[in-house]
Formats: sequence, C-alpha cells, structure tokens
Amino acid sequence: MKIFLDTANIDEIREAHSWGILDGVTTNPSLVAKEGKDFLDVVRQICAIVPGPVSAEVVATTTDDMIREGREIMRKIGAPNVVIKIPMIREGLRAIRTLSSEGIRVNTTLIFSSPQALLAAKAGAAYVSPFIGRLDDISHVGMDIVRDIRVIFDNYEFKCGILAASIRNPLHVVDAARAGADVATMPFGVLEAIIRHPLTDVGLKKFLKDWEKLPQQMRAGS
Ligand code: G3P
Repeated sequence: MKIFLDTANIDEIREAHSWGILDGVTTNPSLVAKEGKDFLDVVRQICAIVPGPVSAEVVATTTDDMIREGREIMRKIGAPNVVIKIPMIREGLRAIRTLSSEGIRVNTTLIFSSPQALLAAKAGAAYVSPFIGRLDDISHVGMDIVRDIRVIFDNYEFKCGILAASIRNPLHVVDAARAGADVATMPFGVLEAIIRHPLTDVGLKKFLKDWEKLPQQMRAGS
C-alpha cells in the first residue's frame, strides 16, 4: 500500500519525504486555506519535493468549469505528477471522462459509497477517494466501503486505484491495508504515530545501556 500525506504544509511534506517512505500527497481546498498561501505556488512546491502523484482539487462545480480549471491547473503547474481532484457529483462525471481522455489523471473525491466509486471508475478516474473518517463520524463503518470497492474493482478488473482518505488514526491505516486499499492518505500526525511504538523505545534504550557494559576496545568499529 502506498503512503500519501494529506496536507498542504510544506515543512511536513519535506520532513516525511526525507524519511524515504512518502509516495505522494493529497491536498484539498480546506488544507490549502489552512496554510494561507497561494494555491498554485503551494502545489508547485509540493511537486518539486515529491516525485509521486500530487492531488490538486478544482473548486468549480459545473462540468465545463471543472474541465477548464483542471486543464488550467495542469498547464500552470507544468509538472507531470499533478493529479486533478474532481468531486463525485453528477457534473463531475463528464469532467472525469474528458480530462482522463486527455491523459490527465483524475482523483475522484468525496466518495461515500461503493456505487459512487463504480461510476467514477467507469468514467475513467485514476483514483477514487472514499472518506473513511467522515463516515465513521456519522456511525457508518467507513472501511466497509473500501472493502466493497475492492471487490467491485477486482470483479471487473478496473485499473482505478482505491485511495483511502479521511484517515484519522493508526487503526485506519491498518484496516485500509487489510482491506486492500492501493493508497492511504493521512495527516502528518498519523504518519508520525505509526512509526512509534513504546516497546521499540524501551527496547532500544536497553540495548544501548547493555552495550555500555562491553569494554570500549571490544566494540566493533570503535
Ligand atoms: O483530503 C480529504 C480527506 O482526507 C479529508 O479528511 O479528516 O477532513 O475528513 P478529513
């Protein structure tokens, strides 16, 4: 499963990229607004740091405007790793079809059911983004739709990637991997949390303490 960061914060992206495990980045209008920086500049900067897919979302809501905005983002950013995020609304379907047929990869966002994912895949989306945490928030098991989408895509050999989004905690990451999601996109805090384990820290402390007992001249390389 690929690991994406769900953020528009450049410091977080730089840091996670330096760890050598970052496969891509997703942004959305809320995340960009939180940073208070120019949208295109932020996406350009992210694309320069991360070679993997970087999702940038349109804010238009009519088909023609979404197509226009998607093309414009691609042209203005000028990086091959940009993926255009289109919301899963009726007007979005033809926008997905048109942009995909022009070779622009589309990530269909705000997916809350498996038939929505089926339609997005049929329209030619490269990714569908089911929002796990937001479904959990309203007492639906969000991960169930990832499981359903996996079965549907496998049944019909859709090449569309399942990008588990709205990931809120380490258990979501484990469950997304178990459900066969192709990607999990997560906030920096969740990525940090899945690195750590208290027993790793205790174990390392003990190894280093015990090592001190070995005379200096017996330590390899010293
Ligand atoms: O990028 C979309 C999604 O990951 C948002 O997550 O936590 O705002 O539901 P959240």
